[in-house]
Amino acid sequence: METKRVLVVGGTGYLGQHVLLSLSRIKDSAPYDLAFTYHSNSNLLEPLLDAIPHSHAFHVDLATGDGFQSIASKFGQPHVVVNCAALSVPRVCEKDPDAAMSINVPCSLVNWLSSFEERDTLLIHLSTDQVYEGVKSFYKEEDETVPVNVYGKSKVAAEQFISKTWPNYAILRSSIIFGPQTISPVQKSLPIQWIDGVLSKKEQVEFFHDEFRCPVYVKDVVTIILSLINKWIIGMQLHASIFTHKKPTCFSPTLINYTMLFTLGRT
Ligand SMILES: NC(=O)c1ccc[n+]([C@@H]2O[C@H](COP(=O)([O-])OP(=O)(O)OC[C@H]3O[C@@H](n4cnc5c(N)ncnc54)[C@H](OP(=O)(O)O)[C@@H]3O)[C@@H](O)[C@H]2O)c1
Repeated sequence: METKRVLVVGGTGYLGQHVLLSLSRIKDSAPYDLAFTYHSNSNLLEPLLDAIPHSHAFHVDLATGDGFQSIASKFGQPHVVVNCAALSVPRVCEKDPDAAMSINVPCSLVNWLSSFEERDTLLIHLSTDQVYEGVKSFYKEEDETVPVNVYGKSKVAAEQFISKTWPNYAILRSSIIFGPQTISPVQKSLPIQWIDGVLSKKEQVEFFHDEFRCPVYVKDVVTIILSLINKWIIGMQLHASIFTHKKPTCFSPTLINYTMLFTLGRT
């Protein structure tokens, strides 16, 4: 049987590394052939490649599409793409809205996937709870998206672009993700580690007090992604969807519940 190819775009990021590591640890008669992309942090590659020695690393710029052709020729068309790449810090997006749009709306990725004869790659795309206005609690998928910042706007634009242009997708609107540091430590501030650092130094710090968030554990996010990949690979029909289906006839009840919890950011 052909080994299935999984490409993690943004594999050097926080979630990307956790996804890659979990995929590489699956004990199966036919494990996945893994590839991932990086952009500016080539210094993160060595520990990652040491931990996942059979994976392939590719330099890609989502803003221009540079690098995708090399994946096509050396790795081939992936059966599944998990897009974890983004300009993920809202403050940075606010400073450079054009960059946020060109990276967070994955036009170059979808255009590349469209260049293959078969349009049968599953695209799992990470979105955010910041697509909502935030004036009430426990948003549902059906609720109107009213982003209040550039990051949220770019994510809504990405969701609309993907749902219009690619037939097979699952979009996961995650809340804030927490968990252990990655194999190749990411430089960005991680929530638990930041709180721990501040408290252990006995520093005085002002926390936000006007926001309710429901953080989600990184390994729960990874479990959902792995479950979606597995269902796609074994040939289970998945309707293209944002989180869950409004009419969830093709998901198992367990997966629906799980993705619902994920949607709400509760685990
Ligand atoms: N972490 C959270 O709390 C959270 C919450 C909700 C949603 N999300 C979403 O979940 C996804 C993963 O988040 P994360 O925290 O893992 O993000 P992250 O740690 O910031 O990683 C971002 C990834 O995107 C890559 N990237 C940045 N600019 C790029 C470009 N121009 N071309 C190609 N790749 C580029 C980075 O590569 P280099 O490092 O090599 O530059 C890195 O691999 C994102 O879509 C994020 O918006 C995250």
